[in-house]
Amino acid sequence: EKKKSLAGKRMIVTAGATIEAIDPVRFISNHSSGKMGYALAGELAARGAEVTLVTGRTSLPTPPGVERVDVLSAAEMYDAATRAFEEADGAVMCAAVADYTPERASETKLRKGDGEMTLTLRRTRDIAAELGARKGGRLLVGFALETHDEQAHAEAKLTKKNFDFIVLNSLRDPGAGFRGDTNKVTLIDRAGREELPLLSKREVAARIVDKIETILK
Ligand code: C5P
Repeated sequence: EKKKSLAGKRMIVTAGATIEAIDPVRFISNHSSGKMGYALAGELAARGAEVTLVTGRTSLPTPPGVERVDVLSAAEMYDAATRAFEEADGAVMCAAVADYTPERASETKLRKGDGEMTLTLRRTRDIAAELGARKGGRLLVGFALETHDEQAHAEAKLTKKNFDFIVLNSLRDPGAGFRGDTNKVTLIDRAGREELPLLSKREVAARIVDKIETILK
């Protein structure tokens, strides 16, 4: 029987894409599959942590031993994540949260006309930044998915959102990012950076959880 290194720790993982309603049949979302977050939740639970997975809609099975909270919108994810954070030792912010949401969702299906239509969007709240602001002694890990100036953007988010470390994915790396079963990431903290090779998402999760364990000790 392997010793459970994270026994007694409570962790939150956010995962997947949020869905912002335009009307009862249409929405704004993104390409996140949730795979990286589910792999992390599974890895944390396998090492004995009590895991709450706050998840957007995915087609993935709940990892064994994980408590799953299903949400749709960024606002719902904010509520679920901030509530669970009170009791947690830390959180891993893996979800692809909408930055903008329709000003209001129409209660009835929007009819098409002949011309253009304009949708007004307003900013959603940044869940990670909010948890960062109230983190106290808790652990907070973020993700950054970038297409250019990757390192600089990731470092700015590390500071701005008060993460302990940030996991950088570049969409420029083949085998990284959405939908696939592999990922190529760089772990960045205030002391420096560690570039990992192309690995399965489960292996990436194991490396991230290794770092989490080191910090929690
Ligand atoms: O600023 P950006 O969205 O690129 O930052 C990405 C990080 O912030 C991820 O860890 C993501 O889960 C988190 N985030 C969040 N709530 C938002 C936007 C991003 O938790 N509204």
